[in-house]
Amino acid sequence: MKQQPDRNLGMELVRVTEAAALSASRFMGAGDKEAGDAAAVDAMRAVLQTVSMDGVVVIGEGEKDEAPMLYNGESVGTGAEPKLDIAVDPVEGTRLLATGRPNSIAVVAATERGAMWDPGPSFYMNKIVVGEEARDAIDITQSVARNLYSIAEALERKVNEVTVFVLDRPRHKTLIEEIRAAGARVQLHTDGDVMGALMAAIPGTGVDVLMGIGGTPEGVISAAAVKALNGGMQGIRAPQLESERRKLMDLNLDLDQVVRLDDLIAADDAFFAATGITGGPFLDGVHYDRDGGITTHSIVIRAESGSLRFIKGIHRLKRSIEFGRPSKQSFQAMVDIAAK
Ligand code: FBP
Repeated sequence: MKQQPDRNLGMELVRVTEAAALSASRFMGAGDKEAGDAAAVDAMRAVLQTVSMDGVVVIGEGEKDEAPMLYNGESVGTGAEPKLDIAVDPVEGTRLLATGRPNSIAVVAATERGAMWDPGPSFYMNKIVVGEEARDAIDITQSVARNLYSIAEALERKVNEVTVFVLDRPRHKTLIEEIRAAGARVQLHTDGDVMGALMAAIPGTGVDVLMGIGGTPEGVISAAAVKALNGGMQGIRAPQLESERRKLMDLNLDLDQVVRLDDLIAADDAFFAATGITGGPFLDGVHYDRDGGITTHSIVIRAESGSLRFIKGIHRLKRSIEFGRPSKQSFQAMVDIAAK
C-alpha cells in the first residue's frame, strides 16, 4: 500500500532550497558554473538530511560514480516516514548564475515513493506546458500552430496575445518560426526551462506557454509543480545526441511515446519548492541587505491542497560568516542558520 504524506512537506523543503540559494548566491557572476553548483549541492544535501522523511533521489546530480552527493538513488532525510521520491536541482540555470543573469533557482520536488518518472538515459525532452485554463487544449503530437490556436481559444484571447517561453537554441529555429507564423509572441531565454514551466503554469506571470526541447530531468521537476498547479504538460523524449538515442533504443523505448503529467508524477500529492538565486521578473533572487541581513524569495506548491505560497525569508548572518565558500566552519554555520 502506498504511503500518503500527511503534512505540507513543501514548508520544510523550502528551507532546503533557501540554503542552496543562499550558498550559491555568493557565486553570482563569478563565471564559475561548477563552484556555484558545488556550494548549492553541499548546502542542499546538509539541510535535506534534517527533513523528517525517508527520501530517495530519483532526479539528482547524476549517477553515483560521477556525482559524490545527491546522486540518483541516494537516500536523503532522517529515514522516518513518509517514503518519498525526491528530485533536486541545486542550481537550475548554472550559466545564469555564473553570468549573473536572471532566473537561476534552487529547486526540490517530492512525491510518494515510486510515483516519480525515472528518465533513465534520456537527457532531452520536447515539452509543452500551460496553466489550468488551457490544460485540455494541448496536444504535443499536433502542430505548433494548432496548439497555439487552441490555447488562445481556451484563454479567450487572440493568438497574438499569447506569449511562449522558448530556450534560445539553434535546435529551436523551426519552432520559433512556427510560433511567429502563428502570430504568437516569443520570449527567448538563454536557460532555465523549469522557470519557464512555472511561469506558464501560474497565471499572471506574462508567460502563457512553454514550448521546446530542454532537459528531461528538468521536465520531471517541472511536472511536480505543474501537477500541483493543476496545469497541463506533455512531453516526448527528444534525444539530441546519437549516443543518447542509441541508449534509449537499446532499452526498446518508444521514442514517439507521449509522456503525460500523470506519467511524470503518478500520484495525487506532490510538493515543489524553489528559491530564486539571481532575481527574475517572476521570482526575486537573494539580496544582501545593508543591515547585514540576507533576503530570500521562494515559492512552495502542494498538489493535494493546490496551495501556492510566496515566502520571503530574512536571514541574519554574523558578518564573520562567509558562507557558501568551502570552509567547513562557515558552511556549517550557514546550514544551521538556514535550518532554523
Ligand atoms: P543547467 O542548470 O544544468 O545548466 O540547465 C540549464 C538548462 O537551461 C535547463 O533549464 C534546460 O532544461 C537545459 O539546460 C537545456 O539543455 P541545453 O543547455 O543542453 O540546451
